[in-house]
Amino acid sequence: MTPGPRLDLVPIPPSTNGVIRVSRPTFSSAEVRAVARVLASGEVGGNGPIGREVERLLAKRLNARRVLLLSSCTHAYQAGLQALGIGKGDEVIMPSFSYMSMANAVLNVGARPVFVDVEPDHLTIDPVAANRAVTRRTKAILAVHYAGYPCQMDALLALKRRYELAILEDAAQAIGSTYRGRALGTIGEFGCLSFHQTKNIVCGEGGAFVTQRVALADRVDLIREKGTNRSAFLRGKVGRYEWIAQGDNYVLSELQAAILREQLLKLDILTARRRRLGLRYVRWLRPLEQRGRLRLPPFRRPEEIAGYNWHFLYVMVEPPGDRNRVIAQLRARNIEATTHFPALHCSPLGRQFHRGGSLPYAEAAAKRLMRIPLHAELSVRDQQRVVEALHEVLEGH
Ligand SMILES: Cc1ncc(COP(=O)(O)O)c(C=O)c1O
Repeated sequence: MTPGPRLDLVPIPPSTNGVIRVSRPTFSSAEVRAVARVLASGEVGGNGPIGREVERLLAKRLNARRVLLLSSCTHAYQAGLQALGIGKGDEVIMPSFSYMSMANAVLNVGARPVFVDVEPDHLTIDPVAANRAVTRRTKAILAVHYAGYPCQMDALLALKRRYELAILEDAAQAIGSTYRGRALGTIGEFGCLSFHQTKNIVCGEGGAFVTQRVALADRVDLIREKGTNRSAFLRGKVGRYEWIAQGDNYVLSELQAAILREQLLKLDILTARRRRLGLRYVRWLRPLEQRGRLRLPPFRRPEEIAGYNWHFLYVMVEPPGDRNRVIAQLRARNIEATTHFPALHCSPLGRQFHRGGSLPYAEAAAKRLMRIPLHAELSVRDQQRVVEALHEVLEGH
């Protein structure tokens, strides 16, 4: 996509009270002007011309046949499950180390999430564990591209062929990442993106449904539009719209679509900034890893790094019991560091239906993982402060 002449990257100054934030969106006056234009037009509802333009731009960018904007990634996923006919009595295998909203979506359609372990290197679903969990009720496997890093898609697609089940992609964190040259979210039956405020591009709350299957997208389009064919009406294909299926209201407002359009124009620039920061972190933190104070994701294969969006960087703190102390001491130095997902099979609701025993890598990630500041507005100076503080806190000097 060629950025237009309006591309404006002067950020709106942060009000962070001197705290180095773990994540932060990049907005400029371009988003402000875009919102003002929509307000002036009075057309602030959902599924309007700007939303449709963003859908086309995203589809082109991802090389997907259809993209639909929805109110969140979670809603895109739930609508996709519904469109595939997944419901009562069905099972969906997913990693325990993932976001609870995606397990909620499975429950909301009446199916059961089955939690399995992640692989230790990049915390993506372990295909061997997924294979073991398949039963005759299994309808799908959810591939969560954790931190924007691709799951082992070849192994998962082999399971799809062996058992005739669907591979679904949670690409909430993965815009700008690829797997063997294909955009994440476009490889499985369908994928879902998020534009929540922590993501690489942001419109407040919002998501996208991505698929190569036109008929599936048409069903999701009905579901997001209250079970009506309003989209066909807006495109002039029918004279009036009718209630024809069970649906919900998952459309994205034009206000948000206008923000997203500006963000999408900046995607390559923002990703390149993250990549520079991420690679520098890895260089600067390797000595701490060599001294056994933390563990970085391995990033072994250069071609994987080339197609990686550096959504965030996490480290595993050594020794395992030290993570919360380290977070507290970084915060005392005005540096935000955070934990991430809980292991869903250990959470109060997950415990009620998990039958798979302990899942050691998911449990270890929940206890030891720490996210450190990485976003497109992070200055080299602030990054240096983060690394110096990590040396102090982890090595006691
Ligand atoms: C891996 C993952 N999946 C799903 C979601 C849900 O996205 P949304 O908030 O857009 O529903 C998130 C959001 O943080 C996420 O990180």
